[in-house]
Amino acid sequence: MSDPLHPYLRPRRLRATPAMRRLVAETRLNAADFVLPMFVREGATEPVPIASMPGVVQHSLESLPAALTEAAAAGIGGVMLFGIPERKDAVGSGAADPDGILNVATRLAVKTVGDALVVQTDLCLDEFTDHGHCGVLDAAGRIDNDATLEIYRDMALAQAAAGSHLLGLSGMMDGQVAAVRDVLDSNGYADTAVLAYSAKYASGFYGPFREAVQSSLVGNRRSYQLDSANRREGLREIELDIAEGADIVMVKPAMSYLDVLADAAAVSSVPVWAYQVSGEYSMIEAAAANGWIDRERMIHETVLSIRRAGADVILTYFAIELAKSLAAGSSEW
Ligand code: PBG
Repeated sequence: MSDPLHPYLRPRRLRATPAMRRLVAETRLNAADFVLPMFVREGATEPVPIASMPGVVQHSLESLPAALTEAAAAGIGGVMLFGIPERKDAVGSGAADPDGILNVATRLAVKTVGDALVVQTDLCLDEFTDHGHCGVLDAAGRIDNDATLEIYRDMALAQAAAGSHLLGLSGMMDGQVAAVRDVLDSNGYADTAVLAYSAKYASGFYGPFREAVQSSLVGNRRSYQLDSANRREGLREIELDIAEGADIVMVKPAMSYLDVLADAAAVSSVPVWAYQVSGEYSMIEAAAANGWIDRERMIHETVLSIRRAGADVILTYFAIELAKSLAAGSSEW
């Protein structure tokens, strides 16, 4: 019998020094595992700050190359591009237009950093529709799933032609992965990869993003994005997207959905990514601006926890800053 006053099992031994803690860390962060989301605004003449996301801007086509070069120099894995068109319409015409802002920005990005970074593009209609939904509407004003797939196919071809390496399917329409894979394969784009935002939840954490893309959404996305109550259904979406040919699947948002992420990581035969979304970013910035939390420490802890839960790669607005501080060598924050 051990004497309860003198424990002989002492896990604290492995926490005694910074060197020991560093050596036994089960999870590590690497710059190569981060993807930076970036916004590009048509007609902008200089970077436009996003008030609800301090430190994040809508780039102009002029300011984009330097920002991309900085991302490549920081050693991150890739960038995810979002376009903000000057004009929106009911069917999101700007999305499939080769001269639409996202496709123009993609060509520029591939030309500037295409060898160093994986250039990724948001494949969704919400930035391009005047009603702000991720799909087109039928006569009754409901989301028309299958008509939307036709537009996604056109959008996929335009993005692949612009040189995007990885199409980020974030619209949560049924059958979108199979539809996009089919159109890519039958048009000579077998090498263009598909990232499926598979378990994407209807979330209040997207709030600041709506400002970032000047969304005109009225209503909500609850008829296509997942209900926060549902864990099993998240896994079902992951499995369906893998069956439809997704090269990578994603869980989004990240921090409030780590259970879904861990489930997905346990069963997925393809990489599992997670997106630390705008609201997750802004909460940290706002609390830090008030002096209520240690900003750097919270960035590290939140991204580490997403990784620990099973994400292979993390989309985060902190990507460059985090990469730079890892390079500076700090292992404890
Ligand atoms: C859809 C899309 C959204 C985000 C990424 N892709 C918005 C939405 O679904 O409402 C949100 C990302 C973020 O909040 O950082 N194009």
